[in-house]
Amino acid sequence: AIGGTSVPDVIARKGGVPLICLTAYTTPIAALADRHCDVVLVGDSVGMVLHGLPSTLSVTLDMMILHGKAVRRGVEKALLVVDMPFSSYEESPEQAFRNAARMMAETACDAVKLEGGENMRDTIGFLTARGIPVMAHIGLTPQAVNLFGGYKVQGRGEAADRIRRDARAVTQAGAFSVVLEKVPESLARNITAELSIPTIGIGASPACDGQILVIDDMLGMFTAFRPKFVKRYAELGEAADKAVAAYAEEVRERRFPDDSHVFGDGEAPSGEGAA
Ligand code: KIV
Ligand code: NA
Repeated sequence: AIGGTSVPDVIARKGGVPLICLTAYTTPIAALADRHCDVVLVGDSVGMVLHGLPSTLSVTLDMMILHGKAVRRGVEKALLVVDMPFSSYEESPEQAFRNAARMMAETACDAVKLEGGENMRDTIGFLTARGIPVMAHIGLTPQAVNLFGGYKVQGRGEAADRIRRDARAVTQAGAFSVVLEKVPESLARNITAELSIPTIGIGASPACDGQILVIDDMLGMFTAFRPKFVKRYAELGEAADKAVAAYAEEVRERRFPDDSHVFGDGEAPSGEGAA
């Protein structure tokens, strides 16, 4: 944010204290992430995590802008990055600029992220030359799930060269950082050593210049599936289930609400909402 973490601040963390990054989709969770993170990402994972979509492919620019605005209200200190959704940038550098500029203007985010390596070289160059900082995303790029035939590890064996070329291409094009998703640890380590920009790992390597997770995954709130790279730091989904079950039981048995939650006849109007 302006006055907070800047793009040059993120670049300066190359090889230093790891960049702490999380996704957020709502104002309260953004405020929570902002207290602890250098980068808050409004990921297009929002489609799967909050909207129940089967993949990120049907996430729209309008959805990203709506969540971007909500997250902006919670972020003061971290760098705010918003994902460009599928079909909003692939057609041409011009299309990418038009939609990224709208995203920047409407959400007041600090940067955008888009998926792709060598194939996005021209687009990343076009955006950065016109004032839009770009975080790249290579390795497993979920918007290409249909090409990959699933959310599989990318860059094993011979395929490592393609990922290495992608990493070089996005760096040369002017990306200020690059997400490495679901690639072998040794490849992520080597790319991190080779590049001049910070790498941000997810299912990558502790050697990366930063780490990112989907916040609902690490809090145990999104449980539809669980990639190996997710560490659960809490089981909020379980806690929420217990809470809702307790509420259901107390309503059924007329134990909720009790005297402490209802209003008497004689209460002053100022008592409304008081404890
Ligand atoms: O959409 C997302 O949440 C992401 C991160 C996991 C990098 O792209
Ligand atoms: Na994403």
